[in-house]
Amino acid sequence: MALSVEKLHPLIGARVTGIDFRKPVGAEARAELQRIWLDNLVLVFPNQPLTDEEHVQATHAFGEPEIFHQNIIKSRKVPEIFRVSNVDDDGNLMPPEHPTMQQLGSARRWHTDSSYRPNPAMGSLLHGIEVSRTGGVTCFTNMYAAYEALPPALRARVEGRKARHDFEMLSRIANARKPTDAERAAMPPVWQPMVRVHPGTGRKSLYISPIYNDGIEGMDDRDAMALIAELTEFAGQDRFVYKHVWETDDMLLWDNRCTMHVVTPHDPLERRVMHRTTIVGDGPVIAA
Ligand code: OGA
Ligand code: MN
Repeated sequence: MALSVEKLHPLIGARVTGIDFRKPVGAEARAELQRIWLDNLVLVFPNQPLTDEEHVQATHAFGEPEIFHQNIIKSRKVPEIFRVSNVDDDGNLMPPEHPTMQQLGSARRWHTDSSYRPNPAMGSLLHGIEVSRTGGVTCFTNMYAAYEALPPALRARVEGRKARHDFEMLSRIANARKPTDAERAAMPPVWQPMVRVHPGTGRKSLYISPIYNDGIEGMDDRDAMALIAELTEFAGQDRFVYKHVWETDDMLLWDNRCTMHVVTPHDPLERRVMHRTTIVGDGPVIAA
């Protein structure tokens, strides 16, 4: 197979053609994709008109698909599919005040997926089924580069430190529904190193997820939140960021271990249907 790779930004993102995810991905192609992914952090595969079942199958080329812990966002038909959509399972447009939309709205702030798990997802694969023309641009930042560029004073404040990641933080910032006691017990907050080592590249990156972070060890909450905000602003600078304008049937793969992402708003009356699978993490976050 001849994969063709074209960089989309000097630091992050590549467009990969020469693969059809409707067909099984052989061992050689998997190894090549793995290399390209580690080098580029975010891969864009255009023209992938996949069914949900094919999408789940393609996910196996990278790892184990996760089944999300909440029913409100999970597809009724294919449980591995996480519905990043303002259209419900029955095809009805959901208004912005719908609890699902409130929760999905958190993606309009920088984050990395499922950082609140002891073993956060290694990656996510998002399929653009009905893409937005009024916004809905997904932006990705290179957290290796952000870490390397941190001014020494800021770097000294994160080195060797841990931040708290709590799924419940979503319900506070996004005005979403509170988790039930059972959900809360199943999803206790976790402390993650603020500088991590990528198991595949050995490189260090900054690791924060501002929609889930609600504390930093050894700091009072106000200082902690101010530091998270400062780091977020630093990491979100254009020089580290690739902005993806979607075409129908783009499939995007990103690495949650060394990137953050955010989506721009779009007209809530416009349908936007994106289906995601999430690749289960290969182990706990490795502290630098
Ligand atoms: C996600 C996410 C952004 C988008 O799927 O994890 O944050 O573009 N989505 O909808
Ligand atoms: Mn996300």
